[in-house]
Amino acid sequence: MPKILSLMVLFMTITLTVGVGQKGKANLKKESFGKTADGQEVELYTLTNAKGIETGITTYGGIVVSLKVPDRSGKFDDVVLGFDTLDGYLKGHPYFGAIIGRYGNRIGKARFTLNGKEYKLAANNGENSLHGGTKGFDKALWKARPLTVKDGVALELSYLSKDGEEGYPGNLSVRVVYTLTDNNELKIDYFATTDKDTVVNLTNHSYFNLAGQGNGDILGHQVQINAGSFTPVDAGLIPTGELRSVKGTPFDFTQNTAIGARVNQPDEQLKLGRGYDHNWVLTGNAGTMRQAVKVVEPGTGRVMEVWTTEPGVQFYIGNFLDGSLKGKGGKVYQHRYGFCFETQHFPDSPNQPKFPSTVLKRGSRYRTTTIYKFSADQK
Ligand code: BGC
Repeated sequence: MPKILSLMVLFMTITLTVGVGQKGKANLKKESFGKTADGQEVELYTLTNAKGIETGITTYGGIVVSLKVPDRSGKFDDVVLGFDTLDGYLKGHPYFGAIIGRYGNRIGKARFTLNGKEYKLAANNGENSLHGGTKGFDKALWKARPLTVKDGVALELSYLSKDGEEGYPGNLSVRVVYTLTDNNELKIDYFATTDKDTVVNLTNHSYFNLAGQGNGDILGHQVQINAGSFTPVDAGLIPTGELRSVKGTPFDFTQNTAIGARVNQPDEQLKLGRGYDHNWVLTGNAGTMRQAVKVVEPGTGRVMEVWTTEPGVQFYIGNFLDGSLKGKGGKVYQHRYGFCFETQHFPDSPNQPKFPSTVLKRGSRYRTTTIYKFSADQK
């Protein structure tokens, strides 16, 4: 193909469902996001709901690259950290917006035993394995397919993780469906099946700043977590196995509290995490959809609720961001410029018999749902 033609194809925008800009109707747009180092095409899909909320999702890592939601005066801002171009993501980053798998968070000593057999994983975080290993789902190229839904716009991403990939057993067939509903929710449905018993723990690693990405630290955000206990960790951030009550600790977010209110208190767990970087044990039954978190950004009035079927949530406040990454619009991501609520099973569950199981049996179905719901507090 002549270069000019291929360039045209590259930048060509295909509008599915309905045309772009037809206000009041959800729509989906597809464009090229460039190529991976080995020359594979990467796509960027933009989903817009009936109220004008918009999210960009790329087939590289299933990454949510942008999410534009209104404040109390109706002004839209992008509330997730990330990069303007694929190159930013290819250069390496702390999992901005990505789908995490096969195992969200850490597996101690990068190994686990299942059905009497030991499986060795890549140790990519000290002696531990973090977020699926060296090439986790955050670096996979996903196949995309727009789906027709009643109440919004949806994109299905699928990926086949081969038997033995990153040390995990079984061919794992994964589907993640992102739905942007007309009710201002970004809903993420996760599905997986395997042909051998394995372990699975999928999540999304979006870093939020409800004041707008790059607009300062997140310490003033008010957070409420529906959790009476959390899983304390050791120096490698591996849970000790204890479920500790949050009562009387800086981990008590049962009442709306600013993230920064107690983060500098002398506390052994805060010290080990370099701030909040822990798993909270959510109230209510895992497997049923219930509200896990509510976040309010007082300046803009933006509110985000997190609802999930998962038993836990990792609340991480960007303790490892250090100003070395330049993100969208040239914004520099300084210490604690974003927070994550990674809904999940507890870290290191494959080695913790008392934690809810992350084993996926051959022939059975993995299925979880998480919703990030946006609104504005009118005051
Ligand atoms: C972990 C952090 C880690 C971060 C990666 C979080 O899920 O809990 O310890 O640094 O992901 O950016």
